[in-house]
Amino acid sequence: MSEEVKNLEKEALVGISSAQDLQGLEQQEIFYLGRKGKLNALFPKISTLQATERKEFGEAINFTKQAIESAVASRRQELQMKAFEKLGETEWIDITQPGTKPPEGHVHLVTHTIREVSEIFGRLGFTRVRHPEVDWDWYAFEALNMPADHPARDEWETFFMDTPVDPKKGKMVLTPHTSNGQIHEMEKGKLPIRMINISKCYRRQSDVSHAPMFHQFEGLLIDKNVAVTHLKGVLDYFAREFFGEQRKTRLRPFHFRFTEPSFEVDISCGVCNGTGFLSRSEVGDPPTTYNPQPATSAKCRLCKSGWLELGGAGMVHPNVIKACGIDPNEWNGFAFGWGVERTAMMKSGISIDDIRILYKNDLRFLKQF
Ligand code: PHE
Repeated sequence: MSEEVKNLEKEALVGISSAQDLQGLEQQEIFYLGRKGKLNALFPKISTLQATERKEFGEAINFTKQAIESAVASRRQELQMKAFEKLGETEWIDITQPGTKPPEGHVHLVTHTIREVSEIFGRLGFTRVRHPEVDWDWYAFEALNMPADHPARDEWETFFMDTPVDPKKGKMVLTPHTSNGQIHEMEKGKLPIRMINISKCYRRQSDVSHAPMFHQFEGLLIDKNVAVTHLKGVLDYFAREFFGEQRKTRLRPFHFRFTEPSFEVDISCGVCNGTGFLSRSEVGDPPTTYNPQPATSAKCRLCKSGWLELGGAGMVHPNVIKACGIDPNEWNGFAFGWGVERTAMMKSGISIDDIRILYKNDLRFLKQF
């Protein structure tokens, strides 16, 4: 009987060593060692043996099993090595080939402008601050000298939140301008103040020149004996740094509830240099030796009058200073604020026929900046 086991072992070892690949080896393994394999098939025979032979037969099976198992293991290792060696022939990479670069992006035009604006004002000592974009009515209107029933509020086309009303601070709103930052900053009570607040604003308007979400930047300076000339100096500095050496600003009387006096800030047009008329070279006439850049009678197509409108500004209204717990007889200052998108458009000189494209994630458009 042990003879039969011995023969099986011999046969198995030959089969295993002649397996040419891992798949073939696995077949051999199943054939001999599997649940329904040849080795297991020997076990029922034990019961047909004499009691004295049983032990010997059982031991022989176990011994053979171990021998086959170790033969399988070592052949598997050999075949794996062979497979690895072959891998070099079938699968290889040329490490000298140039790699594929992932697409490289750049910051959005608005982000870029925000960074540039805060850097310019930073040089004048204005610190960039951030305030809530969902804020109380008190900060967005009331403390800015706009009582609840004041018609001036209508200009801000505000989104009101459907949340409980605070007895002192009123409803919650999506900030329609960055002027709420003035109040937050003054409320802190740390004087003097030089802040630049840049954030998202929301208004109920959506058309080719308005997006319901846009950005504004707001400057506030509170100190002693501040004059309009200081405001003008700061605005001129910004105009030169952001738009270019030749550019100037102009203050035009206007009205805001939170500043007195109030102004609209214009910037001289970069195309006609503030004249409102195109120069000779721009209409195609060569300059003469006597007068290299005389104006023509052709109106500038960009500005029509020599000036482009930037945004609002003014001297902070004493009522606003008072509402923040500061004595307006001791402290005064100026504020200004306008749209980031508009300012960016004016700089790059591009005219967009629908401003909402800025937020459509259209790479064909965004890549240009
Ligand atoms: N908050 C005003 C607006 O949204 C602009 C402004 C800011 C005006 C600061 C004066 C001073 O139009």
